[in-house]
Amino acid sequence: SEKKIEKELDRLVEVGNSASDEIARPTYLDPPSGTRDFYPQDMRVRSWLFDKFRESASHFGFQEYDAPVLENVQLYERKAGEEIVDQMYNFVDKEGYHVTLRPEMTPTLARMVLQKTNLQTGEVRVPLPLKWFSIPQCWRFETTQRGRKREHYQWNMDIVGVNHVHAELELLAAACFFFRKLGIGPEVVGIKVNSRAVLEVVLAKHGVEKGKKNEADGGDLFAMACIIIDKLDKIGGDEVTKLLANIGVSTDSAAEILKALEAPSVEELANLIGTDCEAIHEVKRLFELAEEYGISDYLVFDASVVRGLAYYTGIVWEAFDRRGELRAIMGGGRYDRLLELYGGEKCQIPCVGFGFGDCVIMELLKDCDKLPKFTGSGVDYVVCAFSPDLYGKAANISMKLRMTGATVDLMPTPKKKVAASFKHADLAGARRMVFVAPDEIAKGVVRIKDLRTKTKNDEAIQVDCPLDALHTVD
Ligand code: HAM
Repeated sequence: SEKKIEKELDRLVEVGNSASDEIARPTYLDPPSGTRDFYPQDMRVRSWLFDKFRESASHFGFQEYDAPVLENVQLYERKAGEEIVDQMYNFVDKEGYHVTLRPEMTPTLARMVLQKTNLQTGEVRVPLPLKWFSIPQCWRFETTQRGRKREHYQWNMDIVGVNHVHAELELLAAACFFFRKLGIGPEVVGIKVNSRAVLEVVLAKHGVEKGKKNEADGGDLFAMACIIIDKLDKIGGDEVTKLLANIGVSTDSAAEILKALEAPSVEELANLIGTDCEAIHEVKRLFELAEEYGISDYLVFDASVVRGLAYYTGIVWEAFDRRGELRAIMGGGRYDRLLELYGGEKCQIPCVGFGFGDCVIMELLKDCDKLPKFTGSGVDYVVCAFSPDLYGKAANISMKLRMTGATVDLMPTPKKKVAASFKHADLAGARRMVFVAPDEIAKGVVRIKDLRTKTKNDEAIQVDCPLDALHTVD
């Protein structure tokens, strides 16, 4: 019967497709480029994924928050050459405010925390640490490709108010927990971990000191260098050297910086920079704790990961598929200066978090055949009246079943033919069928047929339930 349902669903899709081919279709009937419609079946898969995000967050004690998709454009004016700034869907609204569809959630989270903060004293009026999560839709005017759209949903997990690696560890553990729960092991995905604080030491040796400003526009030189280095994979070492020259880094220095990015381990990186700095200790400590937490099989040290957002200050990471076919699955890191940037020098509140998009993980789950298969609405019951005069009875029975906690699809059009109602129940993926027919009603009962299980002799299981006992059905 499952095969039959699948065939019928395929037929319906085909009918839909061929109908659309009959006449030229105006383009406004398609969703805007790079955006997605979620038909009910897609929506079930999306809800399933979001439930997994939510479950993982709850297992780690995070609380959900949300905010408007429209945000103040000033929050993203970071002058560091980030792609995200050029990709904004920004406009001036009818009252002259410069707004944008949010390209990411982190500035919004920072804004929300600052709303609860006394800017004069830096006192946060909610108990720290905050462990918050959200699944916002984000908008970026990107070139669309596999796993990259112009809108995406992004599971965000952030910890505010913890200035040591236990926060990074907790976030990485939550992401690994999510992967494990979905059956995606460390042989399929990995998380590359690095530290911008280490890079800070490397760059400082070559004149790019933290806090030093670019003369032209006052942008932070270190952040600009990170954004350039983040492009290494895409544009190669020569281009990176040229771009670094624009912010005053000599060719020799660029060569040394590029060499440091190739360090195969934290130890070798420590040797290269010649100092055993706090930043190196932090990375080592994180890897040690990850071992005890049972997540170290997912983690790999990668000195070349710096991330393309200006605000990161410490440990950063990116999840990737080990086959190397997809773009980044998830990215995050520590951003201890963002709240200070928005709220002033008293607001030095440490933060760390990650964003985990819905598109790439969907592609990966499809490739690994780990997506659940849903049919129809999956209700518990389909209730069908034999004729219009029994419709009121069918409605009454449906309501009684719903009161027991069941989900019930009452067929709007009565059907004399049992086969038609069964087809409907099959397509809905229902568990049971209730056919409200005159003979049974005359006897004060209703027939409930089980659609999923059969007797040993392959016969349908059915019971005639008294109308006044419907509240006892489970
Ligand atoms: P991000 O690296 O820009 O970081 O994005 C995080 C994740 O969102 C990516 O790894 C990817 O899964 C997904 N993503 C980003 N852009 C797109 C797109 N155009 N289409 C589909 N998926 C996309 C951030 O946004 C940071 N705010 C994350 C963060 C939270 N850092 C700290 N807290």
